[in-house]
Amino acid sequence: MTAADYTEKIPNNVDLREDRRLQRALESWQPNFLHWWESMGPALSTQDVYLRTAVNVGRDGWAHFDHVAMKDYRWGIFLAERDRDRRVAFGAHKGEPVWQKVPGEYRADLQRLIVIQGDTEPASVEQQRNLGATAPSLYDLRNLFQVNAEEGRHLWAMVYLLHAYFGREGREEAQELLRRNSGSVESPRILGAFNEETPDWLSFFMFTYFTDRDGKYQLGTLKESAFDPLSRTCEFMLKEEAHHMFVGTTGIDRVVERSVQLMLEHDTDEIGPYGGIPVQVVQKYLNFHYSVSLDLFGSETSTNVGNYFTAGLKGRWSEERRADDHRLTGDAILVDVVTDDGRLGQTEVAALVGLNTDLRREYIGDCQNGVNRWNKILESAGLSQRLRLPHVAFNRKVGAFASIEATPDGERIPAGEWDRRKGAWLPTDLDKTHVRSLMRPVYERGKIAAWIAPPRQGINGKPFDYDYVHFA
Ligand SMILES: [Fe+2]
Ligand SMILES: [Fe+2]
Repeated sequence: MTAADYTEKIPNNVDLREDRRLQRALESWQPNFLHWWESMGPALSTQDVYLRTAVNVGRDGWAHFDHVAMKDYRWGIFLAERDRDRRVAFGAHKGEPVWQKVPGEYRADLQRLIVIQGDTEPASVEQQRNLGATAPSLYDLRNLFQVNAEEGRHLWAMVYLLHAYFGREGREEAQELLRRNSGSVESPRILGAFNEETPDWLSFFMFTYFTDRDGKYQLGTLKESAFDPLSRTCEFMLKEEAHHMFVGTTGIDRVVERSVQLMLEHDTDEIGPYGGIPVQVVQKYLNFHYSVSLDLFGSETSTNVGNYFTAGLKGRWSEERRADDHRLTGDAILVDVVTDDGRLGQTEVAALVGLNTDLRREYIGDCQNGVNRWNKILESAGLSQRLRLPHVAFNRKVGAFASIEATPDGERIPAGEWDRRKGAWLPTDLDKTHVRSLMRPVYERGKIAAWIAPPRQGINGKPFDYDYVHFA
């Protein structure tokens, strides 16, 4: 396989120099990307940051660590190795060789799937633009910038596919990916969660835990795609994505750990006055980020998604490990609904139509692991508080429960009661003001803000007090 070529303007392992037209098209998109990065990417100016850069996709040593100036980060195009024997694993084309070109009949659908995925990548960079100003430590600041740089690379991954396989329309869509902006009134990002603010670090950790994890599951379905270049690019993106979720998981670990210390020290749950984040507030942030992330899975039932599956465009999570016929033509699945008598219940539908529900269930199971982990921290401190995932019907804007209100326990309530009680379940202005008041930057080596515990380890074997970021 080809190793990444770093002598090129655009580092890549796809032999870009063999296709001059494509190379020129991408090189003319590059300054637009850099302009977007300068105007919409990290606002805090730094001299350099200790970042990992992808240098190869192979099993060992794909990542190279060094201090680099952010604007000189080598965003490149990396596809996982090609498996020449790979065959379609599901749907009507099961068993056929995978596609190296886009079949005409699926062109529009594939382009749409790539654009929707591509849109989320720069969106999160925009949402996190101002977080550098309030980083709790240099270690955290470095992690933020790592996530940002890699989301930028994920945009490159999708733009490469658009340019290489979708002609003029693809190039136009690549432009649109830079034109839409998170939270913009005229041209917002495509999906709701990517137009929400990420105004503080608790939100950032929740975002990387819950929303980047949605990304993991979406990429997991595209990794199964019969369109091989899409499959290979997603496979490599998933490697980078793992670090983003690590940032979220351990970030929330450390918030809970610090809150526990303060609760024990002051013998109270009300640790706000002592500069901590009460467990109840952590729960409200969790409720918000989990529920908006569930919306990203779309409606419980979708004929389109069933058609994508049958066509081979996107599969299921762990498709090849599923013990069924991978066509699902005669199968059924239970999906959530509001029943005829107005209760929250379930109904049986064709498995193909219920694929969004299938993916969401996998995701929910995965989310629960984090909650268990955080609860262990509370439990081993001898505290009785526990965190939990709210019911799927809670605070939903998409799907079966979009038009009703429900408590975190899954009890349906009238709109008036929701308005009265929602402050107990979602962050109030007071909660947000408190969390934001704690967000003061700590840029001194080895120091950490008082609302969060330090990490157990540094990055790439470096200590916590390493000089992860240099300022100009
Ligand atoms: Fe990403
Ligand atoms: Fe990510």
